[in-house]
Amino acid sequence: MNVDEIFQIYKDNIMPSYNKVPLIFVKGKGSRLWDINSKSYLDFFPGWGAGNLGHCHPKVMQGVRDQVSKLIFIPNNYYHPFQAKLAKELVYQSFPGKVFFANSGAEANEGAIKLARKFGQGRYEIITFENAFHGRTLATLAATGQKKYQNGFEPIPEGFKQVKFNDITSFKQAISDKTVAVMLELIQGEGGINVADKDFVLALKKVCDEKKLLLIIDEVQTGIGRTGKMFCYQNYGITPDIMTLAKSLGGGLPIGAIIAKKEIADLMAPGMHASTFGGGPVICRAALGVFRAIEKEQILKNCKNTGEYLREKLSLLKNTHPVIKEIRGMGLMFGLELSIEGKQIVAKCMERGLLINCTHDKVLRLMPALNITKNEIDKALKIMDSVLKECA
Ligand SMILES: Cc1ncc(COP(=O)(O)O)c(C=O)c1O
Repeated sequence: MNVDEIFQIYKDNIMPSYNKVPLIFVKGKGSRLWDINSKSYLDFFPGWGAGNLGHCHPKVMQGVRDQVSKLIFIPNNYYHPFQAKLAKELVYQSFPGKVFFANSGAEANEGAIKLARKFGQGRYEIITFENAFHGRTLATLAATGQKKYQNGFEPIPEGFKQVKFNDITSFKQAISDKTVAVMLELIQGEGGINVADKDFVLALKKVCDEKKLLLIIDEVQTGIGRTGKMFCYQNYGITPDIMTLAKSLGGGLPIGAIIAKKEIADLMAPGMHASTFGGGPVICRAALGVFRAIEKEQILKNCKNTGEYLREKLSLLKNTHPVIKEIRGMGLMFGLELSIEGKQIVAKCMERGLLINCTHDKVLRLMPALNITKNEIDKALKIMDSVLKECA
């Protein structure tokens, strides 16, 4: 198949639900991708946040290869050792609780919503935040609360209220006798890299404890080392009641997970919730490979060091390019708020071999692999510098 044939097959056979760029990738290694014409790209947004270890990490490949040759799948009415091992690892890395395995972020959040409603015994309302993003299933669309994602899919399930991010007064005012939980991204990823203030999070946690509300932290984008800690909540000195994970937990393969404190988790009696493929052996081996790589290669330390380096470089870039209004982020998760549309900058960077993302129209999003090198950062910033000069 040549390039034009591939584009035509997509046009004829695949639902047009994605904004696509005309690139066909065939190979990846670390922070490098190669397209069908063998052109190489530096990937500063691997896997839409699912590439914390970059592409094709050897520890992930090793586990997957071994498992595929033994047993590809076994459903959840049976046991298998690697699901047990991964659940134990997740609990060890987070807080005393129990795990439910799903296949995506939306599915993990959907399950967390069901669990909160079960806990509520009649209380069902969940408070979320303006500019949040929790997924595209109907309940997670309702939790997301943004009209642009909901339009055309009404009626949207009830039981969700949005309040202003980082505003404890709005949060308190929204609580009713029907409220059971709050769902929060500590850094709003799709919403433009908006970082939750520590004071706000601590106050929120206090209110949750006082009113017996569950604190659900959505770590789908911030989890697995992205902010320099294994989970972002660990930067805030709090422990959630429920945490959801997906994206880079699988090292490039699809997985979602809910971790809930034991007393909440045990409400999920047999038959109440299920997912055929959730936590299958191959994906569990991949995820265990992710944790092994993080430990053996000191990925969290690298994330902190290179994150600081990238922040410094971005500050210098901001000093020379007044179109950059603000730099926000933590670890290796950065947003550059621009005074102009970011689309053309992303396109020009792509032409020059650098892949970045733009969210919320004017926020450039950089989330390189956590094993990125300073040399790769220098290369990326050089390209961004030249593109910004041209676009300003
Ligand atoms: C914070 C957050 N939650 C949930 C989701 C949904 O995840 P998925 O696309 O795997 O369903 C995303 C996706 O970008 C996300 O960023």
